Amino acid sequence: MVSIQRPAKGPVIVGPGDDAGVYLLDDKHALVETVDIITPVVNDPFTFGSISAANSLSDVYAMGGKPLTALAIIGFSSCDYEAALIGEILKGAVKVLDSVDVKLMGGHSFEDNELKFGLSVTGIVNKERILRVHGGMPGDVIVITKPIGIGVITTALKGRKVKDEEAEDAVGLMLTLNDRASEAALNARATSATDVTGFGLLGHAYNMVRSSSIDLVVDSRSVPVLERVRDFILSGIVPEGAYNNVKFLEGKVEFSNSVSEDERLLLSDPQTSGGLLVTIPEANLEDFAAKGVPYWVIGGVEKGSGRLRIK
Ligand code: CO
Ligand code: CO
Repeated sequence: MVSIQRPAKGPVIVGPGDDAGVYLLDDKHALVETVDIITPVVNDPFTFGSISAANSLSDVYAMGGKPLTALAIIGFSSCDYEAALIGEILKGAVKVLDSVDVKLMGGHSFEDNELKFGLSVTGIVNKERILRVHGGMPGDVIVITKPIGIGVITTALKGRKVKDEEAEDAVGLMLTLNDRASEAALNARATSATDVTGFGLLGHAYNMVRSSSIDLVVDSRSVPVLERVRDFILSGIVPEGAYNNVKFLEGKVEFSNSVSEDERLLLSDPQTSGGLLVTIPEANLEDFAAKGVPYWVIGGVEKGSGRLRIK
C-alpha cells in the first residue's frame, strides 16, 4: 500500500502512517478509524467473512482501542456469485462482530471481477493509552502474539497443496482476535504496538523503528512459525507478496550471514489477521503474561538510528 505520512494536527492526534487514525473527541476520549479489504484466503465463504472481520478489527486493537461500529464493503461480479454466497460472507463477519459487541451499521457493494470483502471499523480509545507504531525504548523487549507463515499456508491452500482440514491451525490463528493481546499490551504499559499484516513481520517491525533513534534486534530463531511452512517454502510455495516485501526491505534491514534466503522470505511472509508486535519494558513482561495471551519474545530494542537488525 502507498503510505501517506502527514503530521498530526489539531484534533487529529494520529494521522496516516499508523495502524489507524485517531481523532480527539473530548479531554479523555478519541475515535479510532480504519478500513481493510481482502480477497478470499479460504474456500468457505462464512469462514472468509469471519477472517476478514477479525483482520479489519485488528487495526483498532493495535491502537489500544475498543471497536464500536463497522461498515461492510464488498466487491463481486454479479454474474459469477450468487446472493446466497454473499450472505454467507456477511453472516461470518457478523458472528465475529457480535462476539465483541461491534454493531454493523450498513455497507456498500460494487461490481468487481475479483471477490473482495472487508470492513471500515470505528472504535474508541483513551487518549492517554494509545498504542502507536513508534515509541519503543532502549531496554524494551519485543514480543509477537501469533506464529507466522499464514501467507504460505493460504498460498498452499489456493494451489491445492493442502486440504482445508490441514490448514486448521492457520485458520484458527486468522480467526483469533487481537482484543486480548491488546489488553495485555495495555496492562504491561507497552511503549508501542502494531499488527503483522501484508508487509510481513519484517515490514511491520521496520515501521516501528524507521526514522527513530532506536534499533530493533530480532533473533530469527525465536520467531514462532506454523508447522510445515518451512517445507512449503523449500518446495517453492511462497506468496508473491513475500518476494515484494523482501525487495522493498532491501537495504533497509541488516541480516546476519546466518539468516538464509528462505528464512528472509519466511520473515517477510504477508499475514492476514496476524498477531500484534509489541515493545514492552522488560520489567513489565509479567503484566503482559498475566492476561494469558500466547506470546513469544523475539528480540529487543537498543539505542540506535532506525535500523532493523536480524540475527
Ligand atoms: Co495494522
Ligand atoms: Co491495516
